[in-house]
Amino acid sequence: SWTAGNFVADTVARVKEQVGSDRVICGLSGGVDSSVAAALLHQAVGSQLTCIFVNNGLLRHGEAEEVQETFNENMGMDLRYIDASDRFLDGLRGVTDPETKRKTIGNEFIRVFEDAAAEIENVRWLAQGTLYPDVIESETPENRASARIKSHHNVGGLPERMNFSLVEPLRYLFKDEVRAVGLELGLPEEIIYRQPFPGPGLAIRIIGEVTPERVELLRDCDRIVLEEIHDAGLYRDIWQSFAVLTDNRTVGVMGDYRTYGYACAIRAVNSEDAMTADWVRLPYDVLARVSNRIVNEVDGVNRVVYDITSKPPGTIEWE
Ligand code: XMP
Repeated sequence: SWTAGNFVADTVARVKEQVGSDRVICGLSGGVDSSVAAALLHQAVGSQLTCIFVNNGLLRHGEAEEVQETFNENMGMDLRYIDASDRFLDGLRGVTDPETKRKTIGNEFIRVFEDAAAEIENVRWLAQGTLYPDVIESETPENRASARIKSHHNVGGLPERMNFSLVEPLRYLFKDEVRAVGLELGLPEEIIYRQPFPGPGLAIRIIGEVTPERVELLRDCDRIVLEEIHDAGLYRDIWQSFAVLTDNRTVGVMGDYRTYGYACAIRAVNSEDAMTADWVRLPYDVLARVSNRIVNEVDGVNRVVYDITSKPPGTIEWE
């Protein structure tokens, strides 16, 4: 029967044989799949592996630091941390259409990643955390049609443009198996049980233009949502929970003053596979703490609403 221990032993042996003494690179996103793929590759080929982490300026609070701490400081990996925030935010200036945001970010990511990869010599292999559902999804007509609603990360994009061979050690695994493998490899639970986070990051949770100031506003709101969800012990029971910065400004009152600030929306959903989702019946006291903290701590946001739309007809993200 399948065990994470056996899987790790077999895969390490197989990857060693496949890769030999070649160099391997791996893009780290901070998500579960790429983290487990990187840890597995590291176990197999050690210093032959270089990981590339791109900070696109659209990450959640503390994410970039956590990735560096886990992989570089704790695991001793060769991690190239690239802060390309300015490049991404420059590219997004004036962009309000959701699909244009995705394309802008996707294209910029490829350029940044290619530049970083070109600095590393003698690379033959690109490791990716592709899972079995990703493989299936890109092969069935139904899913190709549904994927067109929003242009999600495509499995094929990056390697096609580069002369690398692919190493995909998780290709036959499902999510729960990937988590078991990650725990077996000693990755922290904060990474193993992390809620999914979209590649375009905070940009598709900011309705309207993505400016550095608005990213900062949303990042603060989002941090408060996650802190309160964690404190209430709910984080692992929820598929995704986050804040959205709307482009609606509303009138409020603070002491003796009238305010005119953005409305922030809170979204929390449960789902099996992100194809359908139901909004989470969050306890009122959790919602109350989130709302109080956001309006008191985030200057520029003066109203909080809770999104009670299921998918379908709503989507999980607002864009
Ligand atoms: P929707 O909003 O379509 O989201 O219900 C379904 C799942 O996909 C994630 N998502 C994305 N992930 N790039 C990604 O990597 C994207 O452009 C993107 N758009 C949505 C979303 O967070 C949810 O888990």
